[in-house]
Amino acid sequence: MSSLDFSHTSKTDRALFEKRMSAHFAVLFPLLIDVYGHRYDFYYHLQELTQTLLNGLSSRSRALKKRDGERLAEPQWFRQENMLGMACYVDLFAGNLTHLQSRIPYLKDLGVTYLHLMPLYAAPEGDSDGGYAVSDYRTVDRRLGTMRDLSALAEALRNEGISLVLDFVFNHTSDEHPWALAAQQGDSQYQDYYYLFDDRRIPDEYEKNLREIFPQVRRGNFTWNENTQKWVWTTFNSFQWDLNYSNPEVFTAIVGEMLFLANIGCDALRLDALAFIWKEMGTDCENQHKAHVLIKAFNACLQIAAPAVVFKSEAIVHPDEVNKYIAKDECQLSYNPLLMALIWNSLATRKTRLLTHSMQKSFRITDDCAWVNYVRCHDDIGWTFDDAVAWDLGINPQDHRHFLNQFFTGRFDGSFASGVAFAENPSTGDCRVCGSLASLCGVELALMEHDDAALTTAIKRVLLVHSIILSIGGIPLLYSGDELGLLNDYGYRNDPAKTHDDRWVQRIPIDDDAIQQLTTQGDYHQIIYDGIKRMVAIRKSHAVFGSSQTRILRVDNEHCFAFRRYAASAKSAEQLTVIVNFSEHAQTVNIAEGQLCGVDLLSHPTETVKPHKTIAMAPYQTRWILH
Ligand code: GLC
Ligand code: GLC
Repeated sequence: MSSLDFSHTSKTDRALFEKRMSAHFAVLFPLLIDVYGHRYDFYYHLQELTQTLLNGLSSRSRALKKRDGERLAEPQWFRQENMLGMACYVDLFAGNLTHLQSRIPYLKDLGVTYLHLMPLYAAPEGDSDGGYAVSDYRTVDRRLGTMRDLSALAEALRNEGISLVLDFVFNHTSDEHPWALAAQQGDSQYQDYYYLFDDRRIPDEYEKNLREIFPQVRRGNFTWNENTQKWVWTTFNSFQWDLNYSNPEVFTAIVGEMLFLANIGCDALRLDALAFIWKEMGTDCENQHKAHVLIKAFNACLQIAAPAVVFKSEAIVHPDEVNKYIAKDECQLSYNPLLMALIWNSLATRKTRLLTHSMQKSFRITDDCAWVNYVRCHDDIGWTFDDAVAWDLGINPQDHRHFLNQFFTGRFDGSFASGVAFAENPSTGDCRVCGSLASLCGVELALMEHDDAALTTAIKRVLLVHSIILSIGGIPLLYSGDELGLLNDYGYRNDPAKTHDDRWVQRIPIDDDAIQQLTTQGDYHQIIYDGIKRMVAIRKSHAVFGSSQTRILRVDNEHCFAFRRYAASAKSAEQLTVIVNFSEHAQTVNIAEGQLCGVDLLSHPTETVKPHKTIAMAPYQTRWILH
């Protein structure tokens, strides 16, 4: 076996590499053994991987190595009260990467410290699943700019205290990725990068237990490929080929791509569709044990070559499974799809039992990790609550999901929402929901009906949902455009590359003039923008919004949701009690745990809430009571 090639490595880097290997190899090795240890060529692949890690570390810039040191010294940076996330598409938000630099003042004005740029890599023309079909991880989509532009942007953001988050789309590549092209030309080495089958025998066997993610565009999980005369595993669209992680060469190759992304200068990688990366016959091939092992192995690789970078889990699955990805040695950050879905549920039902019980069960995670709390994103809303919790409360989960779909697509009598049904399954009738936050909150309908009172109420809903993600603990993540109350954009229906994918209804372009106008013209856009900005500013000025703990409280009013934030150590005695009224009627609340005496940071002028008193809640009011 050849030894490691240090010829491109400085002495200092070599020492650093050896130090990090000594610290983390003991973690990495058993993980690799678990997945690949049975292979006769295991040590060959281990050697290749080690070289990949060394190359990754050696090509990391001095500035990023400094960043590694800073982040290691302050591993909880993502739990601070100053954190505010935003996710946006480069083209929709700013046209291209260069112009995005000129949006930094806007981001700073709002308080953004974490910017997730939706996938910006080379991708097929036409439909590329919004960039989630990657043809080359090392090239920027030329409509957005170049890798140089991206590095410049990363540096500019870093200088302004904004962390860059990039997608790590590692479950699949596009069918135009060089690996997929080689596979299509018959290269067996690259055919082994994917799951290809000569006939339907094995696919049919797998299919017995698999979900269908986009049944509106293709039934099943496999696509016939003419070039190879084989069936290809394609969980998502037919042009997204699932990578075969049972092949250790794939793991090493993807580590190389991951370190390339890390070395651009991002602070977090969003692990796209991570639940699907391991396939196991006889299971639904989601959330498999080895998926966790692989993610931990990727994480250990980061600790060796680029430890400033953390992982964010994108698992939109059963809440118990979501939580299993969250660990210091796996994903330090995770989307919180349960909170997201149940905030919408409470808006529809005006009831909070499911939200309260579910959060009491699932919100708690370890202190070295954090939730990324969001209300809308570029994807559909799936009702991924726990059926068992619903049954306990006497709710039939299937019927309830049907109700929620009806409600948010505006088919339910009295609904305020203007959503669009997504991925309707012709066999089961299941669907999920799309729509912009403001449209789902009722702004669109109120405007259409020229109903001022309904508009005022809808604006309150928009602010209410943000008041929760800004205070509950973790990184609040805004979806670009929501801070301006943008409405559904139905333009995608005229675009042949988009019309079959209704998620485009909430992927809305905006330009400089519009931003300028919407933030100043005095209508609902500005009310929403100013309202969110004000809450962000309050969040940033009190440490209790940061790394303190969260306890979900029981309240005696079924329309209200409450939680308390308190410092884990005795360092700060400050506590925050948040109470939210999900109904359009005034309510009163008694908090069972502890007596409240404090000031409501959200009321103006700041109101004192007295002990022993029943607390009055106006329609859709949130109180942030500091005590
Ligand atoms: C993730 C993305 C979604 C995409 C899918 C496949 O769920 O959020 O937009 O379609 O992965 O990459
Ligand atoms: C499914 C997947 C999720 C993906 C979404 C895209 O819900 O579980 O990962 O984001 O589909 O629509």
